[in-house]
Amino acid sequence: MRRRLGVNVDHVATLRQARRARYPDPLAAALIAERAGAAQITVHIRGDRRHIQDHDLTRLAASVQTLLNVEAACTDEMADILLSVRPHRVTLVAERPGEVTTEGGLDVAGQAAEVAAFASRLGAAGIHVALFIDPDAPQIDASCVAGVDMVELNTARWAETGNRGELVRLATATERARSKGLSVAAGHGLTLQNLRDLVLAAPGIEEYNIGHALIGDAVFLGLETSVRRYIDLLA
Ligand code: PXP
Repeated sequence: MRRRLGVNVDHVATLRQARRARYPDPLAAALIAERAGAAQITVHIRGDRRHIQDHDLTRLAASVQTLLNVEAACTDEMADILLSVRPHRVTLVAERPGEVTTEGGLDVAGQAAEVAAFASRLGAAGIHVALFIDPDAPQIDASCVAGVDMVELNTARWAETGNRGELVRLATATERARSKGLSVAAGHGLTLQNLRDLVLAAPGIEEYNIGHALIGDAVFLGLETSVRRYIDLLA
């Protein structure tokens, strides 16, 4: 299986927003990432707009040549934006106001009807929907019931602890999801140092969405080289 890299360009926008300037431009970064072999461009439009802005989504949707994956919370505001931009995929995430970064997966099991209704509204508009969840059986089972065909497993615990038990948890969740017919992506906190162990432990993960570390490495390596290093680790 050819594993895909989704490059999250949020933090190019973080740098731009630090000065409320016009650059660096996340779209320019997306085009370089695609040239370097990224299979997808991922962005998270947050309620507080701390990095990606509404106009970024419009420009990315018009120019990304691969696939555009937009992460967003299940709010009415986001539904309006997503239905107007119509990216190829939306990954539904949990968002707590004031959090530094996404703190955990979406509690699909705890709000099954709401998530299913939100996903089906997007699905009816031709948008592919995935759910970002913690790698636990109840969340996987609830995702199936919600009617989606893809989950993204939250790798933050593996990234934070380096505990091999977390690799087993991710591998077990991957197998469970696949046995139920779900495609499996993974992301959060992945780096050049911790990615390979996960690839080896959970070969059923088809796609990785990586942002903070990849953009950070690009400061020293250049973006094309940084993207290629991550792709090499997925081989
Ligand atoms: N996947 C999801 C669902 C996310 O919310 C994020 C962070 O926006 C990522 C992947 C990328 O995480 P990181 O920036 O830590 O690589």
